[in-house]
Amino acid sequence: MDITNLEKIANNLVAPGKGILAADESNGTMSKRLEAVGIEPSEENRRKYRVNLFASDNYEKAISGIILYDETIRQKMDDGTDIPDAMINRGVYPGIKVDTGTKEFEGRDDEKITEGLDDLDIRCKEYFEIGARFAKWRAVISIGEDSPTDSCIRANAQSLAKYARICQEQGLVPIIEPEVLMDGLHSAEKCMEVTSKVLRMTFEECEKNGVHLPGTLLKPNMIISGKMNKEKISRDQVAEMTVRCLSENVPSEIPGIVFLSGGQSDEDATAHLDIMNKMDKKHPWELSYSYGRALQASALKQWATGTPESSQLAFLKRAEMNHKARYGKWGMELE
Ligand code: 13P
Repeated sequence: MDITNLEKIANNLVAPGKGILAADESNGTMSKRLEAVGIEPSEENRRKYRVNLFASDNYEKAISGIILYDETIRQKMDDGTDIPDAMINRGVYPGIKVDTGTKEFEGRDDEKITEGLDDLDIRCKEYFEIGARFAKWRAVISIGEDSPTDSCIRANAQSLAKYARICQEQGLVPIIEPEVLMDGLHSAEKCMEVTSKVLRMTFEECEKNGVHLPGTLLKPNMIISGKMNKEKISRDQVAEMTVRCLSENVPSEIPGIVFLSGGQSDEDATAHLDIMNKMDKKHPWELSYSYGRALQASALKQWATGTPESSQLAFLKRAEMNHKARYGKWGMELE
C-alpha cells in the first residue's frame, strides 16, 4: 500500500476552498433525471450533458475531483480527449463509483445491502490505469418502523471496510459513504442516533480490516429530520447536531468529511456547510462537499430549458457558493 500517495490525494481532494462533484449517477438514475426534464435518456445524451459540465470555465477553483460512473470514465469529451485525461489536464482527480448497487438485505424489503466486492481488485486496477485516483462506495440505511437492524448496519459496515482496504491496495483513495436516508417520518434525534451507530460500526470494521484512515475520506449525511416529518429543525441546529455527531464518532485521522446532499435544496446544502465552517468549534478534519444534486440540479434544468452555456453557468454558480461555504464565507445575499 502506497500510504504517502494515498494521503496526498486525500488531502488534495479536500484542499482549501475545494470539494468534489458527484457525477456518478448510474445509467438508470441518470436516465430518470434526464427523462424528468424531457430529454431522451440515451448514452449519447448522458455524455453530452456531462461533458458540457466538465468543459465549464475554471470549475477547478471549487472542484478537486469528479466521481464518474463506469460508462462515463470510458467516454470522450467533444474534442476527442478521454474524459479522465481532460480532468487530469486541469488538475482535477477522476474518481469512480465501484459499488454495483444494492439488493434486499436478507430478503427484507425495508433494508438494503450494497454489492460489488467480487472482482473489485481487478476493476480498481483497470480504473487506476485509466486515470482514477479515488473511488466511492455507497451503503444505504433507511429509517423505518423496524429498521435499521444492527445486522444490516454491521453487514454494510463490513462491506465498506473491505472495499476501502481493496481500493487502497490498488492506489485509490476510498470515499466511504454510509448514507442514512432523509426519507421518512423520523426526527433529527433519531437520525443522529442511527448515524452515530452507523459511523461507529463502520470505523470498527475499518480498524479490523487495516484501512489506512489518513488516506480515506468519509461521505456522510447531515443530521436532519425525515422529509415527511413536519417538525423541521433550523439550519443552525442541523450544523450543530451534525458536527456533534461527527466529533463523537469519526476518528481524527480522517483528513476530510465530504457531505452528500441527499435531497436537500441547493441553498440548504450550501448554508449547512457554511454554518459548520463558521463555527468556533475546532475539529480535526476538513468539512467539505461531494454533492450530486446540490451541484447539478439547476444545471440540469438549464440543460433542458436553456442553453449549454446557461447550464454551465448554473453549475459554476453552485460550485462558487459551495467554494465560499468551505471558508464559512457564504451569505444569502450572494444567491
Ligand atoms: P447527492 O448529493 O445528490 O445526495 O449525491 C451524492 C452521491 O454521490 C450519492 O451517492
